Amino acid sequence: MNVFWFLPTHGDSRYLGTSEGGRRVSHDYLKQVAVAADTLGYDGVLLPTGRSCEDAWVTASSLIAETKQLKFLVAVRPGLSAPTLSARMAATFDRLSGGRLLVNVVTGGDPAEQESDGIFGTHKERYEISDEFLKIWREVLTKTHTGEETNFEGKHLSVKGAKAIYPPIQTPYPPLYFGGSSDEAIDLAAEQVDVYLTWGEPPAAVAEKIAKVRARAEKAGRKLRFGIRFHVIVRETNEAAWRAADELISKLDDETIEKAQKSFAKMDSEGQRRMAALHGGRRDKLEVSPNLWAGVGLVRGGAGTALVGDGPTVAARMKEYADLGVDTFILSGYPHLEESYRFAELVFPLLPRKQKEDLPGFNITGPFGEIVANTHVPSAPKATAAKTAANKESQELRVSES
Ligand SMILES: Cc1cc2nc3c(=O)[nH]c(=O)nc-3n(C[C@H](O)[C@H](O)[C@H](O)COP(=O)(O)O)c2cc1C
Repeated sequence: MNVFWFLPTHGDSRYLGTSEGGRRVSHDYLKQVAVAADTLGYDGVLLPTGRSCEDAWVTASSLIAETKQLKFLVAVRPGLSAPTLSARMAATFDRLSGGRLLVNVVTGGDPAEQESDGIFGTHKERYEISDEFLKIWREVLTKTHTGEETNFEGKHLSVKGAKAIYPPIQTPYPPLYFGGSSDEAIDLAAEQVDVYLTWGEPPAAVAEKIAKVRARAEKAGRKLRFGIRFHVIVRETNEAAWRAADELISKLDDETIEKAQKSFAKMDSEGQRRMAALHGGRRDKLEVSPNLWAGVGLVRGGAGTALVGDGPTVAARMKEYADLGVDTFILSGYPHLEESYRFAELVFPLLPRKQKEDLPGFNITGPFGEIVANTHVPSAPKATAAKTAANKESQELRVSES
């Protein structure tokens, strides 16, 4: 299981829909969140793109030197920049970060925003642009390894003698992630990307989507991996977690919800329509499947659901999605710094993944927790103790075998 965190480049807060508890998203703050994610052993962080976000490339670049092994899943909107420029930026970022780039290809689902950026096509045309963009982007980067040129003549994009001289570290190019729920999106994913992402819908809906994408990819002779994007509200008890969910929207007024829902209704994104349909703008029916709460989506565009519960409950829900074929979880919580710690402490030991002490550079053996009365080492929680014992046993075995 790969677990990613999220860099809140479009704001962070303790409560939704109000500036009370709102946080200044400075470089210093984003650095704290990135370093926390790196220190805690998250596999990577997602950086969104759009006019409400700080620029994803610039932000990610500013954090390369601050982190050691964290990967950067940088969102890129095809159509906003030339495919060759974008390919060169990806190669440079991958080289300068030591192979830590992942690219999230996002076509975008708000026509007003697209038009403000000079992209006037219909939903279908925007996906045609994404398709041509990716064909050029992939070929240009693939050919960096052989020094060949790319020629492409499309309906929207064409290049002649296109070339990037510096190859990315990852071959043939950094993995491509992609989100989109429309038929056009699924066609594109099946043909060109490596990991298909969905926002956190109930398990049955996700199972249906995965089956559809898999079948379409099979037709193209390809296999994709799957990822999912959730918020998380984890506490030591289920009651405390549900209280925290209520608190998150406790300062949110009906007028703000109505405004947000009207904005979402103007979008032509199938994914956004599916998110909004989960709650219909109503506060009274937010648990849309067990432990899946749609409260965030009352006002936040895109990822609008949270897994809510104590550590074992949330870990069990994640395993349900893993059983459907999801191997990557991209998570966030408000505020992003504190919640990155809370999730790692309460849930990481329960997940089938490499724990941070198993990762290179993280093998500090403890003790962990403040020493009691300057003398006694605090006892380990049960999950960690069991794991430490298992590690010790396998080490002893290795020593005796050698
Ligand atoms: C996990 C995930 C992350 C996304 N991140 C962004 C983003 O950063 N910026 C953006 O404009 N759209 C983002 N999108 C939206 C998609 O790019 C796409 O525009 C949207 O799903 C609408 O396409 P559809 O009509 O095919 O569903 C994201 C989607 C998913 C599933």
